[in-house]
Amino acid sequence: MPVSEPASTLHIVEAKGSRVRDAEGTWYLDGISGVLNASCGHGHPRLVEAATQQMQRLAHYDPMAASHEPAQTLAARLAELLPGDLGETFLLNSGSEGTEAALKICWQYWHNIGEPRDRVVTFEAGYHGSTALAQELSGLPFTVNEWKDRFPVNQVATPESPRALRTAEGAETLLARFSQTLENGTPAAAVVVEPLLGLGGCLVLPDGFLAGLRQLCDRHGTLLILDEVFCGFGRTGRMFGFDHAEITPDIVIMSKGLSGGLIPLAAVTARSAIKETFRNLSVPQGLRYGHTTGGHAVASTVANTVLDIIAEEKLVENSAVQGAGILDGLKAAFGEHPRIADVRGLGLVIAIEADGPESAGVIAAEAVRGGLLVRDERSVVRIAPPLTITTDEAMELVDKLCAAVSHLN
Ligand SMILES: Cc1ncc(COP(=O)(O)O)c(C=O)c1O
Repeated sequence: MPVSEPASTLHIVEAKGSRVRDAEGTWYLDGISGVLNASCGHGHPRLVEAATQQMQRLAHYDPMAASHEPAQTLAARLAELLPGDLGETFLLNSGSEGTEAALKICWQYWHNIGEPRDRVVTFEAGYHGSTALAQELSGLPFTVNEWKDRFPVNQVATPESPRALRTAEGAETLLARFSQTLENGTPAAAVVVEPLLGLGGCLVLPDGFLAGLRQLCDRHGTLLILDEVFCGFGRTGRMFGFDHAEITPDIVIMSKGLSGGLIPLAAVTARSAIKETFRNLSVPQGLRYGHTTGGHAVASTVANTVLDIIAEEKLVENSAVQGAGILDGLKAAFGEHPRIADVRGLGLVIAIEADGPESAGVIAAEAVRGGLLVRDERSVVRIAPPLTITTDEAMELVDKLCAAVSHLN
């Protein structure tokens, strides 16, 4: 018995580059990069080779008893990639674990400095994972639950219209809502946001919002935790989603693209100033925990190779260029279609928002019938192909989506 029911009857048996094959032998263009994580394409030969060699040399060793080179190298490379003093990395297995670790680091930090805080401010339409703590942060329909929250969470709603959200007034409205939420209540421990609301409908946030949010957090002494699980490693046309705003968060959560979908891995990086507060406590406190497979040597080697591939194959640049081309193509083809409410995107995150869930379902189903895998969630069709997508594949993706939209009557 499967643990959870699959959403469709597709049975995928093989994947190569931008394409996946089902059990009946049909090849599809993968418009969603597996689980939004196969950013180097499926089965990249360098990743397979690196993983195989590492597995033969050393698969893993207890991260709490010893260190190994792949994890140390990965932590050092992340510190180099991230701005400011974001230099202390904790390696885990999934984005949800990353969210949990970020929250624990944050709460322990406030405890360490003798000013305990626990309130967390998030986006209602944000998504940060499916474990108990991570799920509490989100107000999306599929995360709402009936158990009692362990800590106070205040969720900020986004304006109704995604188009209005992307304007200067949209930025002002959002910042005013965050400001009010920070002011009303006990001092907040953290604001936790994604740089673009991925599972919440691929909502592109307005220019100036993240910079304004950084200022608000500074004013309230609140930590800014950025969840880069969806956006990190080139997905939005920059290495990290927050690079569009040129800010330095206090804690960053990463997963998905970090290991290219080949193997589970997540990383949480905190500012060294936060880590400092964990030293020299009279009673040892804090992150005295880990997971059996946290910082797995094979996963770390894969991530190190992903970083090489991203740089050498210029995948961040390709994401920006192909994403802009796809977005232009879709807008020109059906941006003014009466049943399409919005076409938006940033890098290789693209959303077609239809006039309702039924229309989005028709587009996604027709796309699959036409040989393109995309996902629909409520009124939104989500598109996020591998960052290795070629110009020909990008044109094919646009053509297939145009054909799918033509089925709306
Ligand atoms: C922004 C964001 N954070 C956290 C997660 C949770 O990651 P995981 O599914 O690896 O636990 C996801 C998963 O989609 C995500 O998109």
